[in-house]
Amino acid sequence: MHNFPEALLLPNRLALPAEIAYLRDKYPMPQWRAHANYGELAAFWLQIHDALREQGRVLQQATLDFREGRSDATRFQRYFMPRLGQYLQHLEGHHHIEDAHYFPRFRGLDPRMVYGFDLLENDHEIIHDALLGTADSARTFRQDLARGHNAARHSADTYADTADRLLALLEQHLGDEEELVIPGVLEHSERPLR
Ligand SMILES: [Fe+2]
Ligand SMILES: [Fe+2]
Repeated sequence: MHNFPEALLLPNRLALPAEIAYLRDKYPMPQWRAHANYGELAAFWLQIHDALREQGRVLQQATLDFREGRSDATRFQRYFMPRLGQYLQHLEGHHHIEDAHYFPRFRGLDPRMVYGFDLLENDHEIIHDALLGTADSARTFRQDLARGHNAARHSADTYADTADRLLALLEQHLGDEEELVIPGVLEHSERPLR
C-alpha cells in the first residue's frame, strides 16, 4: 500500500483528483446509463450504493425521532437494533466483495487504475474502523435503552455522533467509487470484471 497524502484520505477528501479519476471527463454521469457498455453489473453496483444511502438515511431519521421524543424506548429498540445490525453487515459484505473480487479485476484493466483502487481499499479500512465504533456505541445505547428513554438520552447522542460520522465517510466513498467504477466499466465493458 502507498503512503497516501493527507488530503487524499477519506476523512479529508472532497473529491478525487482528475489524475485518479482519469476517465471521469470522458464519461460524465448524466450519460452513463445511455452508454452501450452500461450493463447489469454497473446497474447493480449503483443499486447497492443507493440502497446503502437510503437505509443509512432511514436509520438516521429513526435515531432523530427517538432523540426528539417521537418514539418510545421499547418500540424503538425492537425496530431499530435489528435493522442497524443488518445494515452494518450489508456494508461489510459489500466492501468484502469489492476488496476480494472486483477491485483486483479493475486494477488488471489498466495500470492507471491501481492507485485509485488502492485508495478505495484504504477507504474501506477507515470505514471499517468507524463501523466498529458505531457498533460499540450502539451496544451501550441498547443496554441503556433497556432502562428506558431517559437513561438512554446520553448514549443516544454518542451513538448518533459515531453513526453520523460513519455515514458521512460512506457518502464520500460511494460517490468517489462510482466515478472510478462506472467510467471503468464503460471504457472496458463488464466482461473482464466477471
Ligand atoms: Fe467500496
Ligand atoms: Fe461500493
